[in-house]
Amino acid sequence: MKLVFLGPPGAGKGTIAVKAKDVYSIPHISTGDLFRENIRKETELGKKVKAILASGDLVPDEVTIAMVDNRLKEDDASAGFILDGFPRTIAQADALMEMTALDRVVNFVLDKEEIVKRLSGRRVCKSTGRTYHIIYNPPKVEGIDDETGEPLIQRDDDKEEAIRNRLEVYEASTAPLIDYYRQKGLLVDIDASKSPDEVLSSMVEALR
Ligand code: AP5
Repeated sequence: MKLVFLGPPGAGKGTIAVKAKDVYSIPHISTGDLFRENIRKETELGKKVKAILASGDLVPDEVTIAMVDNRLKEDDASAGFILDGFPRTIAQADALMEMTALDRVVNFVLDKEEIVKRLSGRRVCKSTGRTYHIIYNPPKVEGIDDETGEPLIQRDDDKEEAIRNRLEVYEASTAPLIDYYRQKGLLVDIDASKSPDEVLSSMVEALR
């Protein structure tokens, strides 16, 4: 199964992808996670994109497309994948069509008020990327990762100004992909306002 997860920041793409990858036995490929890993390891790519991610702007298409093209050539992606956070522009979507054919594009639908609540309450474990929410999905001990015991942090781009910018960037550059994929008959809309397990099962049902 070759899937793209589309939707505004904070809609729950990453949360559902972590569960869906086990349902379909395919890798979860998140461009945001790949960039953050490069930043953590202080690679050349990481140095180049650090300030861009903190502000909520998009990394230039050519950099992102090359990174995804390389990742999709790895063995584990040959039978399928969940692409989370890519494509985010029409140019990226056109490039992806050249790389491979998709089965479906899942569009996670959530209103703006709920998006802001989810993003401002998100906390992450820096070393593993595991995601929590202070109200909806709290860790067992406040501020501490359940498995590693490390302190949880707030992503730089989950601060108020960056959230506002990410929403504007989403509307301007990424929302047009909804029509792009609808016209190709690939789009499946999923109500992302329910609990993660409910969102997952409605998606699995819709993809059946
Ligand atoms: P990326 O990491 O992809 O950020 P994003 O798209 O903004 O997505 P998020 O990770 O913020 O949200 P999500 O939908 O995965 O929500 P989550 O599951 O965490 O990208 C970061 C940056 O990298 C970009 O801004 C850009 O700079 C760069 N970048 C990445 N891809 C790029 C590309 N293709 N081109 C150019 N630049 C690119 O959930 C959010 C919160 O809600 C969590 O706290 C979670 O616990 C909670 N939650 C989730 N689901 C539910 C639910 N059903 N009920 C209650 N709470 C829930």
